[in-house]
Amino acid sequence: MQVITDAKAMRRWSQAHRAAGRSVSLVPTMGYLHLGHLSLVKEALSRSDVCVVSIYVNPAQFAANEDFGTYPRDEQGDLRKLKELGVHAVFMPERLYVVEVCGDKTDGDEENLRTNSPASNSPETNSPVSNSPPETKAAHETYVTAEQLQVGLCSKTRPHFFRGVATVVAKLFNICEPDVAVFGKKDYQQLRVVQRVVRDLDFAIDVVGAPLERETDGLAMSSRNARLTADHRANALAISRGLLVLKNKVATSHRGLDEQTLANEVREIRTGITEAGGEVDYVEVCDQESLVPVKTLPAGAKAVCLVAAKFGDVRLLDNAELGGEA
Ligand code: PAF
Repeated sequence: MQVITDAKAMRRWSQAHRAAGRSVSLVPTMGYLHLGHLSLVKEALSRSDVCVVSIYVNPAQFAANEDFGTYPRDEQGDLRKLKELGVHAVFMPERLYVVEVCGDKTDGDEENLRTNSPASNSPETNSPVSNSPPETKAAHETYVTAEQLQVGLCSKTRPHFFRGVATVVAKLFNICEPDVAVFGKKDYQQLRVVQRVVRDLDFAIDVVGAPLERETDGLAMSSRNARLTADHRANALAISRGLLVLKNKVATSHRGLDEQTLANEVREIRTGITEAGGEVDYVEVCDQESLVPVKTLPAGAKAVCLVAAKFGDVRLLDNAELGGEA
């Protein structure tokens, strides 16, 4: 397994494999890998000849008040897990996207910039910072946005998030040049944003949504679960329980769900989470592709119910596709 930190070397690796007739898959991650990530990697390995996993804690998707600086990292553990799975390359860039933190235009002052590795001064080229040309120090300022899809749901509380994701994912696509990229359905809005960017900007990449992985008791797998207290961990099951009730109701209802029934079902999920001590951010039933909210579910219609809720200070996401997959 090759560990690559330089963008040009990454591109050369990918181009060499493609030139030899091998298909390349990419799994973008921010590291601290759990079983959910590893299921994406397995999916990618099954769909390509060679697989690259990127590990990059992306400053562009964190607001200044969020936990970028303390985001958990476990480089050695991640590399070991990926090697065991038979991943062919890991791309670990240092300064893929440099975000200007202060309001002022920066003149290369490192204090004003957030990079992937706050403790590190190495630029993307891995050359000593003193020898790097001035432009490698300047903050990036170009963003990719999916105008409609990134409105609502998670954007209500994290308005900066999806443009940060879409921008860095576009860069990863340009650098890694994969044929296939795998994203988890756990981050449903993210998956749809990336698919829309790929469609709208004509990236020749098949973006695959891999099924959401659950713990045996139903909790959706997430790096954040580790931060739940034992009580919150137990109470948070109200989310997956509520979603399962709705999913079963849709599956067994031959006449679909009218406006009032669907509204009641959504209210039930909200109440279940609140009574378990959670703070609901949203519970919404939406079209699977556009994520526009739907008010009714005619028989045979497909939709997705998306939930975000906080238990303690841990914000959890979960969702259930209703009536099958789009
Ligand atoms: O889902 C994630 O871990 C991140 O949002 C991603 C896709 C790696 C982009 O930074």
